[in-house]
Amino acid sequence: MQVIEQKNAVHVQPSGAALGADVAGVDLSQDLSETEQEIIKQAWADNLVLRFRRQPKLEVEDLVRFSRYFGDLDKAPPASTQMGEDFAWQHPEITVISNVVANGKPIGDLGSSEAVWHSDMTYNPKPPKGSALYAIEIPPAGGNTQFANMYLAYETLPDRLKSRIADLRCVHDASRNSAGGLRKGYVDNTDPRETVGATHPMVRVHPVTGKKCLFLGRRRKAYIVGLELEDSEALLNELWQHACQDSFVWTQEWQLGDLVLWDNRCTMHRRDAFDPNTRRLLYRTQVTGEEVLAAAEA
Ligand code: SIN
Repeated sequence: MQVIEQKNAVHVQPSGAALGADVAGVDLSQDLSETEQEIIKQAWADNLVLRFRRQPKLEVEDLVRFSRYFGDLDKAPPASTQMGEDFAWQHPEITVISNVVANGKPIGDLGSSEAVWHSDMTYNPKPPKGSALYAIEIPPAGGNTQFANMYLAYETLPDRLKSRIADLRCVHDASRNSAGGLRKGYVDNTDPRETVGATHPMVRVHPVTGKKCLFLGRRRKAYIVGLELEDSEALLNELWQHACQDSFVWTQEWQLGDLVLWDNRCTMHRRDAFDPNTRRLLYRTQVTGEEVLAAAEA
């Protein structure tokens, strides 16, 4: 990964880990020039996750304008059943991630418990290409977000597993979010063969870089089409154990005003738990993605 420098300010500093870079010298409350956008897009393709540290206070409109540089925006996913007033009526593109309770109901999703490894909204036929997450309130401890590099996860698989999954497809469960909350409009099922959600290739080709990556999405109630349930579970367990190892991971330790932009096609993420008596509030957007293509289709 190379450091890109430009006279008029944008500076990209890779984290030194398997993915992630800091981008300095841009104020996301302002329009970005074409040149700034190009540098950021290249840095995104190179580093998979970008962090814009301690931005000045951004309004919802600023987050939406910045996210639109990367494409159209998806609507927020269905909220979980315990959530209170739906923020989406006002800002359909914003997902509120929060444990804050107002008038006896959570104002956002995912609470304060751990959010397990996943990519966003992969239960949709066209999962988002990326997500931007902006920190408005941060707890004094915990609540860090980890990202894992799925190019590396694929490249380091033993050949036996690469050939085994080359033509396999997997069903991605839509019913529960990454913190385990049942989404409004879904019923629980116990048999992965009956999982409701999109089916995608397990190895996808990234439409921008042309590189292959492992595309797992979410473990809970996943099912590999055409396999006996027992074989599907065993193969998924093996792949998941490989995919989330420390050497593929970079951790975002949040500071107020941080904005993190991740490529949802070639990364997964998870979040640590934090003290439920402290407050955490972030706004997220999702950039509309494309059909997930396997090598033979790309
Ligand atoms: C998410 O999974 O999109 C939210 C991650 C976080 O709360 O840090």
